[in-house]
Amino acid sequence: MTQSSIPKLSAHGAEIPVIGFGTSQLGECGEIVATALKLGYRHIDTAWKYGSEKGVGEGIRASGVPRKDIFLCTKVSHEYLRAADFARSVDESLKNLQVDYVDMLHVHWPTIDNIPLAETIGALAKAKRDGLARHIGVANFNIALVEEAMRLCPEPLVTLQAEYHPYLDQSKVLDYCRKKGLIFTAYCPLGRGRLFTDPVISEIARSKGKTIAQVALRWLMQQGNIAAIPRSSNPKHMAESLDVFNFSLTDDEMKKIFALKRPDGRIANPKGRAPAWD
Ligand SMILES: NC(=O)c1ccc[n+]([C@@H]2O[C@H](COP(=O)([O-])OP(=O)(O)OC[C@H]3O[C@@H](n4cnc5c(N)ncnc54)[C@H](OP(=O)(O)O)[C@@H]3O)[C@@H](O)[C@H]2O)c1
Repeated sequence: MTQSSIPKLSAHGAEIPVIGFGTSQLGECGEIVATALKLGYRHIDTAWKYGSEKGVGEGIRASGVPRKDIFLCTKVSHEYLRAADFARSVDESLKNLQVDYVDMLHVHWPTIDNIPLAETIGALAKAKRDGLARHIGVANFNIALVEEAMRLCPEPLVTLQAEYHPYLDQSKVLDYCRKKGLIFTAYCPLGRGRLFTDPVISEIARSKGKTIAQVALRWLMQQGNIAAIPRSSNPKHMAESLDVFNFSLTDDEMKKIFALKRPDGRIANPKGRAPAWD
């Protein structure tokens, strides 16, 4: 897989490779991130909260891949949603990463403690206007909150990052994003490992000579308007997850995977932080 062969999604001037690399729980991940970049990943997802920003920065420098060729995303955590805290957090992220700008800056979770959304969104837009983030977006917002954020934001929101995999129905949110021209970035695209014992996906994978991870990612890709950010510390898995553009799922296979959605399918649902999901 070469850099140019990973398809990209475009919105408001952003060009986002549809498969990215997740770095939560990877900690000091310099070597892993360098490996991912050498394998062809050009979209890296981190967050202040993951503690992986320093490793991501080290990995970028060690990889030899030019900074401008990488779509780098980080996020401001829910503790820092006051304007002054937000600005400090962005500075710290850039320092951790040792870069001058990120390509995507997200609000990681919607506000708690009654901090006005207008204040947080104002700080997000300011980071873009100050050149610290090329593009901005939100994560873990429900439709009503995205709607409100778009109303408040003087700059276009480019992505909504939210959980999505075959066990979670996100049809309402996806419809909304498509209508509003927002790219949907799917986190936990492999259900954080829960998909690997699924008999339906396993059978489809077997029949096509692919792995469960590849079928799950392909299912996301074929829906359109979705970028996915699987995480792995295993180079074989990393390469596999990039190799999802040379086969397709039939309508019947797509439907069988859609039918796996279940009411308890959500993984990331922190009490006191999660909004009322759609
Ligand atoms: N915005 C948010 O609030 C939020 C929340 C959660 C996650 N995220 C982002 O989304 C990323 C992905 O989500 P996630 O890390 O929770 O889970 P995930 O990517 O759904 O699953 C990761 C698990 O899948 C395994 N895996 C990966 N590729 C594989 C392959 N090709 N074959 C077999 N196993 C494979 C990994 O193990 P190995 O290491 O052994 O490959 C790991 O145990 C995160 O790292 C983070 O960047 C964002």
